[in-house]
Amino acid sequence: MCGIIGYIGKNNPKDILLNGLKKLEYRGYDSAGIALKNDNSVQVIKSVGKISALEEKLNREELISANMGIAHTRWATHGNVTLENAHPQVANKITLVHNGIIENTKELKEKFLPTYQFKSATDTEVIAALLDKFYEEEKDIFMALSKTLNNLKGSYALGILVSDINKLYAVRKNSPLIVGIGKNEYFIASDISAIINYTNKYMLLNDDEICELSYESVEVSKDGVIIDKEVKTSDLIDEDTTKGSYEHFMLKEIMEEDKVFEKTLDKYLNNMDLLLDLKNYNEIHIVACGSAMYAGMIGKSLLEEYADIKVSVECASEYRYKKIFYTDKTLVILISQSGETADTIAALRKANDASIDTLAIVNVKTSTIARLAKYKLFIEAGVEVAVATTKAYLLQVLLLVLLTIKTAKSKGLAVDVSEIKEIPKYLREIFTRKDEFRGIVKEIAHSEDIFFIGRQIDYAMSLEGSLKLKEVAYIHSEAYQAGELKHGTISLIEENMPVIAIVTDDDIKDKTLSNIIEVKSRGAKVILITNDNFLEKSDINIVVPKVNKLYQSMLVVPVLQLIAYYTAMMRGCEIDKPKNLAKSVTVE
Ligand code: AGP
Repeated sequence: MCGIIGYIGKNNPKDILLNGLKKLEYRGYDSAGIALKNDNSVQVIKSVGKISALEEKLNREELISANMGIAHTRWATHGNVTLENAHPQVANKITLVHNGIIENTKELKEKFLPTYQFKSATDTEVIAALLDKFYEEEKDIFMALSKTLNNLKGSYALGILVSDINKLYAVRKNSPLIVGIGKNEYFIASDISAIINYTNKYMLLNDDEICELSYESVEVSKDGVIIDKEVKTSDLIDEDTTKGSYEHFMLKEIMEEDKVFEKTLDKYLNNMDLLLDLKNYNEIHIVACGSAMYAGMIGKSLLEEYADIKVSVECASEYRYKKIFYTDKTLVILISQSGETADTIAALRKANDASIDTLAIVNVKTSTIARLAKYKLFIEAGVEVAVATTKAYLLQVLLLVLLTIKTAKSKGLAVDVSEIKEIPKYLREIFTRKDEFRGIVKEIAHSEDIFFIGRQIDYAMSLEGSLKLKEVAYIHSEAYQAGELKHGTISLIEENMPVIAIVTDDDIKDKTLSNIIEVKSRGAKVILITNDNFLEKSDINIVVPKVNKLYQSMLVVPVLQLIAYYTAMMRGCEIDKPKNLAKSVTVE
């Protein structure tokens, strides 16, 4: 997911823009660039690779004195990772940066730009060239912007400089962009973390609103009409966006889980009316991607068992294209940490278009999913920087637990809430056992293949444990329904191959234990994560405190997260920014 930051004000923008890009690194990128502007000129400096390469270039070059600029981190979609394809992209008087995807570039080139000599393979240069063409024709930037936007199909967040205008322009559609309000200085950014060092005041831009930022003010308009925008205050603090004493954001964010759990629990337990009562729906579709989907699988298990409501879980990339049998009692729950995942947004739009109620469980309050859903429940995870989600995933599960409790109570069904407040204490107890997990990691860190097995809710946890290991430790891993293994895959079990078995569900633990014996008899090394004492059946045992099934997964998954983290450490992996991954996948 690309990152955008822009500045206009009394200070030199270079350091502000560079610092902002560093705060946006977590979004994933492969090139970066900056454009500086003063009354007479625009200077563009770009680099392939890390922001440090851009910084070195900036330190070598003779820079113009400037009081405005834009900057960008690019995660390649259209066009390879090259200097020409890095942003900002320039077309005569127009210099701009873009996050999103334009879907009709071929048509735009043929219709409007048949003779234009493109220097890059990007869709972004097409936007710049089109805007420059219309600006030349209209001699009015607002007219030119409107004509350009009316012809674009797809998603965009744009930061724009115009060589003969001393202002900065911003516009968005289906891609995040906020406007920061400082003291006689103004910002644009993909998210507040990029500018929190300078201001916590911001405005949200809605689709196709044009924002003009000058040295004195900010003006937002749509179709030529000025719009009054609410200035919001972010509760984010800069230390949330730094690693502090931790070596990696991933470990810091795991260690924050008890605190953010308490914050989110306090918010909702003290005001259960905030939670949507699901009793009036007879079918729930939980739709998400990756870890968010696996959190949804835990939610399914609990909602069905304790709230007696039918739930299906679908990955958004499939859901958005399949035939869905909605009824007027269907609720679609979208789960997303970033709130910008393209497939999940598409699934949300599908439900909205069918006039089906939608509920978003989301972390980023300014996100597209938060804005488009009919109902929204915010997890209070704070900013999550590591690409591999940990604390946000845990709180997604917590929100689903709270929805289960709310709905069960509303239906007069038995539900025991006595232990939920104990969870943070148990989490802190688990965090004291890091050395135990590090020791176990030695058994798996150099394996080629690792299997996870579990049944029902234990299987849902094993999916997340397996994904964490793949994401950060780059080990091939598969999570299997324990009862399925013998239908083919058990042929892969070799001598000493690690099999991580999750057994916490009393109702079916004996069945999984027999599966453990099956894999052990074929030479597997079994690491058992359980809330009971099955010492004789496995090679290594990790016992977590036994709590009500409603809450048990929230003590198991942090163990899986720590195992993945320490395995990645032992393998010398990148951890916070794993190869090929982005924090939010804003493209299909
Ligand atoms: C989780 O560690 C991964 N980074 C990924 O699976 C992620 O959960 C998925 O891309 C969904 O992201 P979202 O929650 O921001 O929608």
